[in-house]
Amino acid sequence: MEVDVQFLPVGPPSEFLSNRAVVVIDVLRATSVIIHAISRGAMEIIPVITVDEAFRLAKTFPAGTTLLGGERGSRKIPGFDFGNSPGEYVAEKVGGKRLILTTTNGTRAFHAVSSAREILVGSFLNVGAAARRCFEMGKDLLLFPSGDEGNFSLEDAVCGGMVIDHLIRQARDSIHLTDAASAAYLLYQQFKQNLIEAFHVSHHGKDLIAKGLEEDLFYCAQVDITDVVPVFKDGAIRID
Ligand code: MLT
Repeated sequence: MEVDVQFLPVGPPSEFLSNRAVVVIDVLRATSVIIHAISRGAMEIIPVITVDEAFRLAKTFPAGTTLLGGERGSRKIPGFDFGNSPGEYVAEKVGGKRLILTTTNGTRAFHAVSSAREILVGSFLNVGAAARRCFEMGKDLLLFPSGDEGNFSLEDAVCGGMVIDHLIRQARDSIHLTDAASAAYLLYQQFKQNLIEAFHVSHHGKDLIAKGLEEDLFYCAQVDITDVVPVFKDGAIRID
């Protein structure tokens, strides 16, 4: 199995993706929110790119079935039900509901890799389960950090490195790492004892702290608190 990491959030050509599994990673905070909301009983999450698209799409579903979540500049969008803090997505509110989510980087990333064979949602919250799923699929793998407004995102690359660490532990001999994957693996070694430190170094982590959202960092730094590995298929994220 070849394991690669796309350090900049630019979707590779569909010929490259069509035989690969992809794990989309946006630790701070989109994929953490998605995993959290699905584990709290959300029926499905539809990631969309623009705020207008989110409002338009919501109107096409029966009243009372659909909620809007996401952020711009890390803040809740006016008229939306939720911002992008995992703690907002409690079972009492999201259980059985459809969520339409739009975030600066994370929801965009799903559309950038939509031609991949399988698309999984990963973060520290489900990293072990996501790696097991990748290993069982046995397909060449692209780890896809969502980036930070088109730039490299340190915390997502560290999480990619943690997925790689799990894969190597399961089957060192059958895993071939590209140079980008080796770099993510090495980066993970630097922060594995203290993931919060990676958030303190990263541009997006610092920005969330400056905006008073540090509590989200502690939530998103938790490792393996769920085995839920949502899948993006036919435009929506669900449990497979
Ligand atoms: C994103 O998708 O860009 C992030 O989740 C942003 C954030 O939560 O602040």
